[in-house]
Amino acid sequence: ARHHSIAVLPGDGIGPEVVAEAVKVLDAVTDPAGVTLEKTTYPLGAAHWLDTGEVLNEDTMERLRQHDAILFGAVGAAPNDRRVPSGLLERDLLLKLRFGLDHYVNLRPATHYPGTTSPLADPGTIDFVVVREGTEGPYAGNGGTLRTGTEHEIATEVSVNTAHGVRRLVRYAFELAQSRARRKLTLVHKHNVLVNAGRLYQRTVDEVAEQFPDVTVDYMHIDAATIFLTTDPARFDVIVTDNLFGDILTDQAGAITGGIGLAPSGNINADRTAPSMFEPVHGSAPDIAGTGTAQPTAAILAGAMMLEHLGHPELADRVNRAVRADLEENGTATRGTTRVGDDVVARLRAVGA
Ligand code: NAD
Ligand code: IPM
Ligand code: MN
Repeated sequence: ARHHSIAVLPGDGIGPEVVAEAVKVLDAVTDPAGVTLEKTTYPLGAAHWLDTGEVLNEDTMERLRQHDAILFGAVGAAPNDRRVPSGLLERDLLLKLRFGLDHYVNLRPATHYPGTTSPLADPGTIDFVVVREGTEGPYAGNGGTLRTGTEHEIATEVSVNTAHGVRRLVRYAFELAQSRARRKLTLVHKHNVLVNAGRLYQRTVDEVAEQFPDVTVDYMHIDAATIFLTTDPARFDVIVTDNLFGDILTDQAGAITGGIGLAPSGNINADRTAPSMFEPVHGSAPDIAGTGTAQPTAAILAGAMMLEHLGHPELADRVNRAVRADLEENGTATRGTTRVGDDVVARLRAVGA
């Protein structure tokens, strides 16, 4: 298709700042190609909740369902903003979308681009993808508290892992590994302690592996994985992991590849029964919101992932190449948020995108 209807959810903090640059770049690459992105902006987030008392109502959820894809910024108030309870926007907006739209693959590529500085002395070639589970695990919201506020309080978050959920995730990860040069898949879990979920993941990987004889399979406990992500990240190709482990690993992956401001993600409904959603890995960064210094690169790259998902790999490629060239020339030293977007757009125009 050459026409797509996109929902844009800028959100809070630096969310609107970086999404504006992603939209600028998307327009610059799609317009000359005769592809139109018809955008509808939904002003959801902290301010909307403070104004209306609503986070995301069913009617809006239904409207979001009708789009071809969603571009998301970030939500969440500053930790010291007592007006907005921690978790309200994260759970009732972001996770409601991921769960409600069945975004079972949370796809998070980690690439160390030339021109950017890894804090690792000897990073080697960092080019891996984390296939993070998106709709289950400790995020399921299946827990509660007993005897709240007493000395005998019990707080639980019950991790939910289903055969169906793990199998579809693992299949996706194997297909991805199969398509990559190194064809390597690492399951990251903690089956030495979390034996129930761990066994389900390991057994599923073992079973699916039989259908992918070309893929080399490996296992690592999550704690050790954080060591090797620091000491030898080049060993990773495709990592498949649980929702919470994947959350933590991908912030670390952002840090070692030159900064969280460069790391994009896709919340993918691979069955295409609902729109997928693309966003930076980072949050609303209240500490720098309003300063005009946030890096929009992660949001721009998330836009490229969206183009790929919508069936325009050549346009995605143009954005990726423009970003790569931009980083190679200018690095990540602070240029200002809008300046980065302008520079990427100028580069797209120069190559006749
Ligand atoms: P964060 O990712 O917002 O910020 C962590 C650090 O990284 C901060 O110092 C921040 O300034 C920096 N940073 C993040 N993005 C950057 C960018 N594009 N350019 C330059 N620097 C950047 O994580 P946090 O501080 O733990 O969370 C802040 C709020 O965001 C919380 O309310 C949290 O719940 C929420 N959050 C939302 C999402 C999301 O919407 N997907 C993701 C993570 C956190
Ligand atoms: C992310 C964020 C979210 C997560 C939060 C805000 C719900 O940290 O997208 O990585 O934990 O998935
Ligand atoms: Mn996170």
